[in-house]
Amino acid sequence: MSTAATNDVLTQWDHDHFFHASTHLGQFARREVGNRIITGASGVHITDREGRRSLDAFAGLYCVNAGYGRSEITDAIAEQAKELAYYHAYVGHGTEASITLARMVAERAPEGMNHVYFGLTGSDANETNIKLVWYYNNILGRPEKKKIIARWRGYHGSGLMTGSLTGLDLFHKKFDLPLSQVVHTEAPYYYRRADRSMSEAEFSADCAAKLEALIEREGADTIAAFIGEPVLGTGGIVPPPAGYWEAIQAVLSKHDILLIADEVVTGFGRTGSMMGSDHYGLKPDLITIAKGLTSAYAPLSGSIVSDRMWDVLVRGTDEFGVLGHGWTYSAHPIGAAAGVANLQLIDKLDLISNASDVGAYLNTAMADALGAHAKVGDIRGEGMLCAVELVEDRDDRVFFDPALKIGPRVVAAMLERNVIARAMPQGDIIGFAPPFSLTREEADTVVAATKDAVAEVLDAG
Ligand SMILES: Cc1ncc(COP(=O)(O)O)c(C=O)c1O
Repeated sequence: MSTAATNDVLTQWDHDHFFHASTHLGQFARREVGNRIITGASGVHITDREGRRSLDAFAGLYCVNAGYGRSEITDAIAEQAKELAYYHAYVGHGTEASITLARMVAERAPEGMNHVYFGLTGSDANETNIKLVWYYNNILGRPEKKKIIARWRGYHGSGLMTGSLTGLDLFHKKFDLPLSQVVHTEAPYYYRRADRSMSEAEFSADCAAKLEALIEREGADTIAAFIGEPVLGTGGIVPPPAGYWEAIQAVLSKHDILLIADEVVTGFGRTGSMMGSDHYGLKPDLITIAKGLTSAYAPLSGSIVSDRMWDVLVRGTDEFGVLGHGWTYSAHPIGAAAGVANLQLIDKLDLISNASDVGAYLNTAMADALGAHAKVGDIRGEGMLCAVELVEDRDDRVFFDPALKIGPRVVAAMLERNVIARAMPQGDIIGFAPPFSLTREEADTVVAATKDAVAEVLDAG
């Protein structure tokens, strides 16, 4: 926007008025951390108002899956805005875009999941899912069966319930969270298993045993659902160990506990498969979708509902009347138009195959370049997801003192090399989740910047 490029008080206004998300407010106000004002983007690159261009190896917040500057999506948004910028989705109303997108999502969802409720953010979609779970159990006449099990290191949003489901300290501290209806279980974090002699299969069995012990302690008749991301995302980009989902699902079925697959990150291709649930053999009752649904060109999220749950919801409204749940912006036509164009484009360009091929290349190249470094404890990933975990002591897997801020310093050193990665919030984990359109040459650039930045921060002196 030309005013941004010419307005030299913008930085002042930013510090004076803009309340940024997930930011250290004191440091920002004192200008100990700078701001960055983004003005444009194309492909896998973003540009700021100083004219600096960076390769965005985290696709925004792992959401711009189709890459930046796709005219197919921006044109669809513009056309929708001109034709019909808004109408609501209450009491049977819809738009061509929202109905078409619901059909497209159902076609891409696992078998037996055919209804989609559209929201705006991953957080509100998870709030919807928890309400649907509670409603479902009330209709089935089991009002005590309400608690939700989530995992430590899981990320499900930062609302009241979703912040509670999230299993990261930062999102609880001083917010009076988690709420009492949420209990947390072991993270499927094989690298950080307590007993190093365990194989992946043994560790998965152990996670399932711990889950079962928790259920028995709480009482299965009080537990409604288990929520998990197919691949742990914000908690450290951790793919599940072999046999994990099979073992967990066996425990859930035994105790009649619903499964919510939070596919806000994995949905629509990031693992290299259309849905993470199919990639890992999950059979969820609800799926949360957001980010990749529109590649973040417009805010839109969704809850995909299984036929088994749907039948009960229908029965509930026959008995108790209208389902009292809706947002003004549910199924917003501009978001829906972006979603239709985005999913069409991903198919047309076969971007999920590219995510799988170039993602594997990125992971291998990262392991080749950094695997032998004394401070690199683990390199892991799946599809177009990759993480490099840095440790003080590689043999004993000792965390660095958080005060050293090793992860943020490595990411800052990468930014000096014009590559954006993300310092994940718990542990010194450098996260990568580039747009699916990444090329091998661009992957090489990301790996080289990571290698040099790790050397700069950790090899000095
Ligand atoms: C797995 C997962 N669920 C939910 C959310 C919350 O989505 P939002 O930030 O759109 O509320 C996120 C966001 O990163 C996420 O990664």
